[in-house]
Amino acid sequence: MQQIQTRMEPHLFVVFGGTGDLMGRKLLPALYRLRKQNLVSKRVQILAVARDREMTDERYRSWALDQLAQSGIALNDRSKSWCSSSLHYQSVASGTAKDYQILRDRILQLEANNRLPENRLFYLALPPKALELTVTGLGESGYTDSAGWTRLVIEKPFGRDLISAAQLNIHLHQYFDETQLYRIDHYLGKETVQNLLVFRFANPIFESIWNRDRVESVHITVAEELGVGSRAGYYDSSGALRDMVQNHLTQLLCLTAMEVPASLDADAIRDEKVKVLRSIAPISSEDVVFGQYGSSRDGDNEIPGYLDEPGIAPDSRTETFVALRLEVENWRWQGVPFILRTGKRIERRLTQITVRFRCPPVHLFGAGRACSINSNELSITLQPEEGFDLHFEVKSPGQEVAMQTQRLHFRYAEAFGPLPEAYETLLLDVAVGDQTLFVRGDEVETAWRLYDPILNEEQDVHPYPAGTSGPLAAEALYRQ
Ligand code: BG6
Repeated sequence: MQQIQTRMEPHLFVVFGGTGDLMGRKLLPALYRLRKQNLVSKRVQILAVARDREMTDERYRSWALDQLAQSGIALNDRSKSWCSSSLHYQSVASGTAKDYQILRDRILQLEANNRLPENRLFYLALPPKALELTVTGLGESGYTDSAGWTRLVIEKPFGRDLISAAQLNIHLHQYFDETQLYRIDHYLGKETVQNLLVFRFANPIFESIWNRDRVESVHITVAEELGVGSRAGYYDSSGALRDMVQNHLTQLLCLTAMEVPASLDADAIRDEKVKVLRSIAPISSEDVVFGQYGSSRDGDNEIPGYLDEPGIAPDSRTETFVALRLEVENWRWQGVPFILRTGKRIERRLTQITVRFRCPPVHLFGAGRACSINSNELSITLQPEEGFDLHFEVKSPGQEVAMQTQRLHFRYAEAFGPLPEAYETLLLDVAVGDQTLFVRGDEVETAWRLYDPILNEEQDVHPYPAGTSGPLAAEALYRQ
C-alpha cells in the first residue's frame, strides 16, 4: 500500500504455474495493464515456468495473447509487442536438481541479455502439493544468492490447518527470510479493503463511536452467486471455512477491529492485526453453522446442487456456507458480537461490513415501547457496488410522528470511475518491496489456531436451496 506512486524497477518475474488459470486470468492481464500505465519498467522480463516440455517461447506468447483477449484486452501492436519482447517460457518437467540447474542458466541468460540487476521475484501460483518441492528446488539451487533482491510470493491456500501452515513456515524460513516472503490474500489488494484503514483512521467522527459503548454488533458478509464451478478437486477437500473464512473474512475482521497502528509501516499494521486475532475468544461450536447448497429452479433453469457438480463426491459433507459468531475480548470490543458469514450460490453477490449501532437508551417516539426504531447502521460495501451507506431515522412528513429509515450514500464508481484490479496493486507492492498488504507468518498461524477446533469437530451440514440466503439454521446467529 504505497503512499507515493512507484514504478516496478527492472527485475525478472518468474512464475511457477506459468500456464495455469491464475496466470492467464489475473497475473498476465495485471502485468500488461501496469505496463500500459507505465508503472512497470520496460526492462521487466517475465519467465513462465511449468511442466509442459512441448511448450516453446513462441507458443507461450500466443497462449498469453489468447488469455489477454479473454480478459477484454485489445490485441493490437502494443499488446503483441509486449508479449514478444517480455514473455519467455521454461519447462521444469520433473522438478529434479538438473531441471533447476537448467532454469538457473535460463535466468542468468535472460538477466544478461536484458541487462537486469539480478532482482528476482518468484511467484508460486501452484497447488499446495507442488509448493514445498518448489521451495526446496529454489532454496537448494542457490537462487537466493544474487547481487540484487529476491522475493517469493505464495498464493493461498497457506496450509490447511495450524500444523501444516506452521510446517510450511518452517520450510520457507529454511531458505528465505520473512522480509522476502509475500503471502497473498487477494482481498487485501482490493481498493475498498485498503480504504477501511483510511475510512477508520482519517475520519475521527467514526473512530470515536467505533467501540462497545456505541456498537451493538458487526456483520461481515461475503456472499457469492456462483457455485463451485470447475474447482471441485480443490474445493471439495477444502470447504468454505478454509477457502474464505480463515483468510478473506478474517482479514476484513482484523481491519475492522484493529487499533490505530503506530505508523503505516507494514509491521506496525500487521502487529495490530495479530493483536485482534489473539484477543478472539475460542469459538463455541454452538456459534457455528455449516451449510451446503442443494439444487433449485430459476424459471426454466435447474440450478445443480453441490453434490451434482462435476467432480464432487456424491456423499460429500463439504460446507459451501459458514456463519459464525465470535467475540473480540479487548477493551474496545468486549461483549460485541461479530457475525461472519460466507456462502456460494447465495441469492445475490455481496461483500459487506455492517456496523450496527446501539438504539437510543430512551425511546421518546413510541410512548413507553421498548426500542422499536431501526438501529443506525453503517454498511461498507466492498463489492459489487463499492461504497458506503449510513442509515438513520427521519420523521416522515405529516401531523403524526412517524419514522422512516433513510441513508446517506457514497459510491466509488460515481466519484472515481473504475477501480484497479487487486492483483495490479499487489504485484506492484511486491516489486517495490512493500509487505503491508501481505500476510505475515505469525498472522496466518494465529488465524488457523482460531479455526482449527472447528475443523476438528464434526459439524452438522444444513442444506439450503441454491439462490437463497443460506440455511435457516443460521438465522438465529444474525439476530444477535
Ligand atoms: C478465492 C476463493 O480466494 O476467492 C474462491 O478460493 C472465491 O472460492 C474467491 O470465489 C472470491 O473472490 P472475489 O474477489 O471474487 O470476492
